[in-house]
Amino acid sequence: MIQIKPKSSRLASRILKKIQKFACVLWNRTFRPFQDRANGLICRYSRPMPSVYIKTYGCQMNERDSEAVAAQLVAKGYTLAPSEAVADVILLNTCSVRDFAEQKALNKMVNVIAETRRNRPDVVLGFMGCMAQSRGQELIDRLPDVDLVLGTQKFHRTADYLGELLAGQRDKIVDVAAEQGSEATIREHLLYGNAAKYGDGHRPPLQVTAFVSIMQGCNQYCTFCIVPYTRGEERSRSIPDIVAECCQLVSQGVKEITLLGQIVTSYGKRGFGKAGSPLPADGGASVPASRFVSGLAPPKDDGAHGVTRPTKSPFVQLLDAIHEIEGLERIRFTSPHPKGYGDDLIEAYARLPKLVEYAHLPVQSGSDRVLKLMHRGYTRARYVGIIEKLRRARPEIGISTDIIVGFPGETKDDFEQTLSLAREVEYDQAYVFKYSQRRDTPAAKMPGQVPQKVREERNQRLLEVINEIARRRYGAFVGRQTQILVEGPSKKNPARMTGRTRCNKIVVFDGSERHRGQLMDVKITRAGSFTLYGDPAILGED
Ligand code: 5AD
Repeated sequence: MIQIKPKSSRLASRILKKIQKFACVLWNRTFRPFQDRANGLICRYSRPMPSVYIKTYGCQMNERDSEAVAAQLVAKGYTLAPSEAVADVILLNTCSVRDFAEQKALNKMVNVIAETRRNRPDVVLGFMGCMAQSRGQELIDRLPDVDLVLGTQKFHRTADYLGELLAGQRDKIVDVAAEQGSEATIREHLLYGNAAKYGDGHRPPLQVTAFVSIMQGCNQYCTFCIVPYTRGEERSRSIPDIVAECCQLVSQGVKEITLLGQIVTSYGKRGFGKAGSPLPADGGASVPASRFVSGLAPPKDDGAHGVTRPTKSPFVQLLDAIHEIEGLERIRFTSPHPKGYGDDLIEAYARLPKLVEYAHLPVQSGSDRVLKLMHRGYTRARYVGIIEKLRRARPEIGISTDIIVGFPGETKDDFEQTLSLAREVEYDQAYVFKYSQRRDTPAAKMPGQVPQKVREERNQRLLEVINEIARRRYGAFVGRQTQILVEGPSKKNPARMTGRTRCNKIVVFDGSERHRGQLMDVKITRAGSFTLYGDPAILGED
């Protein structure tokens, strides 16, 4: 066997890659086109289209972006690979919120490179999303095997860019530019999950829940947070555009929609993108959704001052419009900002039955001093006041939060106040994060950076308090009857089914596929760690 030295091996693989790319161009140019079918393009000839594997890091927005990219690629005839080991294209959709998430994606790419480049040099490798946006070309300088770096306003360009790379028309692509109107491009869904790929005629069950992106970007500039730099300024889609997408999803069988945005309560506050329309001034509570789709009323004069002023925030107007959609059973949203929790939104909980009893309200700290340093824009008292109002409006409401421990300058006393807030509010669930220095954020340069060991200790202590409260709150459900929407088989035990209560608690029960999509009552028999177990309730039983 001939032993090839690393340098020449690399050259050989590059030449091989070029030849393969040339063959690919020849093939594509000779045997196009494809035939568009209902749920994607079906290839007319026998050679399979490239397959793509997307690995997602981070939040639900990232999950949603990956889904939209996958749907876009499926529509172009790509298949979805079950793992990176067999994929022609491997994309990592990255998160920058904490250093840990960035390191995970970087390490993954290093491993992927090691595994693919030796035997499959033609595989296209790409970074997308937040880390791609913040690091850009730097990623290719560091990992020259990476072919594509795609920023957060460029997801809709994925198919075009992959086409160019696979056809050998371009060697590397880095696109992290801002693009007007990009907020309205995250719209395709993949309701059949990965199963769309095989085209074997088997029609898998539909998803009954869907995420809808209503806006992009963030203007809050919390001092710890990198998001305004990776996602850009706030840009909102128009109400008609969002309602149309929701109507489409509901017509396909979706029962529950979660509206997504970095700060959904800021929806529409800074105008709309190119595709936007003005908002109806009456708040739209009595207006059928069809009106939002076909056209909108002009803003109303408030009479007193001769100025036009809507009576409800744009976000509540959006909730009103979506609430009108027939067949939609439940509405959720994430994440709101406590600052944006006006009385109109609290009143919406009391008024709109489809709006579920759940609020994820990131507090970040229980200390007013730290909240100020974080640039959060509310005090502990105002935050607690919102929760009290919410609980008055919907006593059953589930409340969750995000908390950062070890923010620069956080003293023992500040941390004690966070512990006392957690005890006071009694969260159903809380996501606790150790502060992570993010480059170019004001907090990274603040004095009093807290040693890693202290961050870890505080993380542990807070988790103990959170878990103890959650155990109590979950335990209180045992013996009670509650409504769930059945989502599908349990991930841990596919022989069982899972559903979600209106207050966002997962319930596992003995059921079957015929329960999927049903709103059903279950009796809770046992509470585990952030999971409830139940039996379908039998009518007439007490
Ligand atoms: N360090 C630790 N946690 C952070 N978060 C955002 N930025 C940082 C950071 N630099 C947390 C916040 C936010 C959640 C999505 O991530 O709690 O609400």
